[in-house]
Amino acid sequence: MTQDFIAALPKAELHLHIEGSLEPELMFALAARNGVAIPYASVEEVRAAYAFSNLQDFLDIYYAGADVLRTRADFHDLAVAYFDRAAADGVVHAEIMFDPQTHTARGIPFAEVIEGLLSAMAEAEARHGMTSALIMSFLRHLSEEEAFATLEEATPWLERITAVGLDSSEVGHPPEKFARVFAAARGRGLKLVAHAGEEGPPEYVRQALDVLAVDRIDHGNRSLEDAALVERLAREGMTLTVCPLSNLKLCVVDRIEDHPIDAMLAQGLRATINSDDPAYFGGYVADNYRAVAAARGLDRHALATLARNSFTGSFLPPDAIAAHVARVDAMMAAAA
Ligand code: HPA
Ligand code: ZN
Repeated sequence: MTQDFIAALPKAELHLHIEGSLEPELMFALAARNGVAIPYASVEEVRAAYAFSNLQDFLDIYYAGADVLRTRADFHDLAVAYFDRAAADGVVHAEIMFDPQTHTARGIPFAEVIEGLLSAMAEAEARHGMTSALIMSFLRHLSEEEAFATLEEATPWLERITAVGLDSSEVGHPPEKFARVFAAARGRGLKLVAHAGEEGPPEYVRQALDVLAVDRIDHGNRSLEDAALVERLAREGMTLTVCPLSNLKLCVVDRIEDHPIDAMLAQGLRATINSDDPAYFGGYVADNYRAVAAARGLDRHALATLARNSFTGSFLPPDAIAAHVARVDAMMAAAA
C-alpha cells in the first residue's frame, strides 16, 4: 500500500548527479561501444566494488566509471535511462547535476556533454511530460580558476543552464574557496546550490549561506549539530536536498534506522528526499522514500510533506510549483 502510494506521489528530484545514474549494464555497453577497457570482468564484479567507507572512496570509483562516457550519444543514453527510471518513480520534474570538468579534463568537449543531456531532456518531456533543469556543478577539489574557466566555456549554453553547484571532496574545500565564481554565476542570472554538511562541519553550511548566498543546500545533515543554524535554516525556509541511501552508503549514518529525516521535519527544516547517485547507492528516489518510510515510520502526511517540499524547493516558476503542490493535495484528499 505505502509502496504504491510512494510511487504514485508526484515528486521532484532535486539532487541527482547524472554521472551517478550510470548503471553497470550501461557502463559495459558504453565501454564496448567506445572500445574503452574497464577494470571489471562482470556486472556483478562492478556491483561488488560498490562498498564505500566515506565520500572519497565513492568518488574514486565514480570518476573512474565516468571514463566510458565519451560522446553526445553516451550522455543522451545515460540521461534517457535516468529519466525513464525516474518517471516510473513518480518524478514529474528533475533538476539534474552534471560535472563538466570530469569530462573536459579527459578531452571530451563541453558541447558533447551538454548537447547529449539537452536532447535527453527534450525526450523526457516528449515521452513522460517530465520537465527538467540542468545544474552545472564545479568540482571543489579543483581550483576556483578552473571553475571560472568552466563557467566561461558554458557561455553559449547559459540560457539552458538553471544553476551552478559545488560537489566532490568536501572536507578541506570550503565554500568560501568559490566565493568569486559563485558571485559571477549569480551575476549571469544563474541559481546557486552547494553540497555542504555532508562530511563537512556546520561552518561549511554557514559559508554556503553567508559567502555563496546559495538558494539550496545539498545534503546539510551536519547542520543538526548546530541548533542556531537549524533555527536559521528553518526561519529562512532553506531547502535541504537530503539523500538517505547515499547517507547510508557513505557512512554519514551508520544505519538507516538512525536517519534524521523525521528530526529534520520536526525542527521545521524544508527537507526533501533524493537519490544522489542511484546506480552506486542502491536505489532511485522512490527507494529512498521507502527506505526512510520503513525505517523511521513515516506516515502518508510526512511523505506528502516531503513531496510538497520537493516542489517548493525547486527552481520551477511559482505557477508550476502551485500546480504540482495542488496535485499532491488532491491525492491526499482522495486518500482521506
Ligand atoms: N557528494 C559530493 N560529491 C558528489 C556526490 C556527493 O554525494 N555525488 C557525486 N559527487
Ligand atoms: Zn550529491
